[in-house]
Amino acid sequence: MSTDTDTGTTADTTATAACPVAFPLRRPGCPFPPPEYATYRDAGPVRSELPSGPLWLVTRHEDVRAVLTDPRISADPSRPGFPRAARTGGAPSQAEIPGWFVSLDEPEHARFRRTLIPEFTVRKVRELRPAIAEIVDELVTTMLARGTRADLVEDFALPVPSLVISRMLGVPRADRDFFEAQTKVLVTLSSTDAERDAASAGLLRYLNRLIRIRRSRPGDDLISKLIAAGTIEPHELSGVAMLLLIAGHETTANNIGLGIVQLLTNPRWIGDDRVVEEMLRFYSVADLVAFRVATQDVEIGGRRIRAGEGIVPLLAAANHDRDVFADPDGFDPERSARSHVAFGFGVHQCLGQHLVRAEMEIAYRTLFERIPTLRLAVDVDELPLKYDGVLFGLHALPVTWD
Ligand code: HEM
Repeated sequence: MSTDTDTGTTADTTATAACPVAFPLRRPGCPFPPPEYATYRDAGPVRSELPSGPLWLVTRHEDVRAVLTDPRISADPSRPGFPRAARTGGAPSQAEIPGWFVSLDEPEHARFRRTLIPEFTVRKVRELRPAIAEIVDELVTTMLARGTRADLVEDFALPVPSLVISRMLGVPRADRDFFEAQTKVLVTLSSTDAERDAASAGLLRYLNRLIRIRRSRPGDDLISKLIAAGTIEPHELSGVAMLLLIAGHETTANNIGLGIVQLLTNPRWIGDDRVVEEMLRFYSVADLVAFRVATQDVEIGGRRIRAGEGIVPLLAAANHDRDVFADPDGFDPERSARSHVAFGFGVHQCLGQHLVRAEMEIAYRTLFERIPTLRLAVDVDELPLKYDGVLFGLHALPVTWD
């Protein structure tokens, strides 16, 4: 493979020929992570093609961080060449969903981030811990009351973050089924454009109604606080709430579910809170979310990426880079995993990361303390992995106990 960095075109062509890449990639599953990731890392950025244009898959830890911090690389889907697998696939633009601030570049993005940061600090999350513990406890109590079998995705991993973010936003508990169903459509790779449009419109209609109610009857919830802050325009509020609602439950749910399997198959780590950071690194469930486009020619990992070419940093690949993590495909909570990029990197780094850590820690502790005989009800190889999801995870997690 050519390593000539001055002749972008030659190097690009060689990379394409040597590593033809289908996109969207098949989801990481068993074996995990997919063997292709190591091959890509050795090659450096690998070129692929989408209907929206050329696309670069970036896999090395150093290169992923470079992509996510380079001001010449944009998160704005309205720019030409932004990676889109289908018309509505990937991140929405401001024209589609005003207030969807993960799709904004600086300085516009900072207005949203500054308003929201105080609600997601370590201190704020510490204050939230009793509420999280109450939600987790209640879910375990319900499962125990029902018998000795459960689907831990449906009965635990999904409702924990879903109820927590609903409570923060002031979304009524009774509406959980509705917004979870819409979110599922939006994070399923095989959903059609029409299905996505309908799910998105339904969620926005629902949140606009809720915002109208909060305007006339404010509470101590986040939506009421955002209205009062006045820094987010009225037409942007539903987009902000939708981003928080979606980002706030599916991601964490997948990490909780996969983590439970890890602990059931590797019980010596039960009760050790260090597992949380390693699980975030190891599974990197939001591997395929940080889409970008170059706005000027840039060089990443020795490859020339031209203005208008799409870039997808594969976060799971970076988190399994052996140059940064020794024995990266091993699960080792004793390592220092803090430099992982499971939450992204740079200005868009996950706003909810402290919340996620608290939710995972409380969920694992409570579950294994209250159900010490918990075990899988099927063989680990039979667990249905999400190959069709934007996020990696499990469709179901059947368990039993004495
Ligand atoms: C295991 C759980 C989670 C993972 C792995 C995760 C991962 C990520 C990643 C990779 C990004 C960066 C996207 C990019 O650069 O384009 C991100 C951004 C974001 N996440 Fe999370 N996330 C998780 C949970 C949450 C939760 C619980 C919330 C709560 C509200 C949340 C809210 C957000 C928001 C608002 C952004 C956009 C931040 C910005 O653009 O400034 N996430 N997340």
